[in-house]
Amino acid sequence: MRANSRAPSSAQTGLHEDLPRLLERRAASPFLKPCAEYNRRAFLESMERRERAAPGKPLILDSCCGNGASTVALAEAFPEHYVIGVDKSAARLAKRPRCLPPNLDLVRADLADYWRLMHSASVRVARHYLLYPNPWPKIGQLSRRWHAHPVFPSMLELGGRLECRSNWRIYIEEFCFSIRHLTGIDARCETWRPDVAQTPFEKKYLESGHELFRVGVDLGRGQNGLRPQESGIRSVTGGFAAGVTKPHPEYHPTVGARRAVPYRRYRLG
Ligand SMILES: C[S@@+](CC[C@H](N)C(=O)[O-])C[C@H]1O[C@@H](n2cnc3c(N)ncnc32)[C@H](O)[C@@H]1O
Repeated sequence: MRANSRAPSSAQTGLHEDLPRLLERRAASPFLKPCAEYNRRAFLESMERRERAAPGKPLILDSCCGNGASTVALAEAFPEHYVIGVDKSAARLAKRPRCLPPNLDLVRADLADYWRLMHSASVRVARHYLLYPNPWPKIGQLSRRWHAHPVFPSMLELGGRLECRSNWRIYIEEFCFSIRHLTGIDARCETWRPDVAQTPFEKKYLESGHELFRVGVDLGRGQNGLRPQESGIRSVTGGFAAGVTKPHPEYHPTVGARRAVPYRRYRLG
């Protein structure tokens, strides 16, 4: 990965003026788009693997995990947890590390569906990492940012300790705004300057001299009173297959100076 990447540039200089209105809409109306069959299958198979490998172990989710390097580091840092990394890119996942710890699973799926499927199946997480999601910095791309996406309320309902990082300050400030707006939980943006890069993109951004930002919040057990999103999967009790309803008939396939940065293991707070 090249270490001369440009930091996101945008005509936007502060919070997007449409964000509050969009969030009102998100909170008031469920996300009804049917989940794609391949995401449904990926979700159920991953839950079955979890049941076989680590029944009852607390779950860590590494969303937008890329090649899974951060997922491996998390699995090693939290051996008493089961860690699932999810990314929609088969190409990125194909570059996964060769040796995978036993408490880890990498899943190819679109998180717009996977999060809803987890929520509908009442799956809760202990920790949730969303490290360097695509920032979509153009003004017209607001609804593609996760914190403005219709799935965001379901994602918050997964609960646990949620951490998001970005090299675009506005992304994290908006992310915090959306959390505060939807849950009342006090989320604040802070600068993030690790000594050791913890993901491939973090390494690239640090070596390119970008400033980094993050937010960490405790969402508790989720259930902040947000409206459940439609997914066609009911609560999972006593085996995941038991919770599956018939699939929906529709199919939607869905700054600073440059420096060399060591890339080692996660050190998590
Ligand atoms: C900038 S990369 C960050 C990867 C990794 N977290 C890191 O820090 O090195 C963003 C990742 O998000 C993934 N992604 C984007 N939209 C997604 C979606 N809807 N569902 C799952 N993964 C998605 C992309 O495939 C890509 O791997």
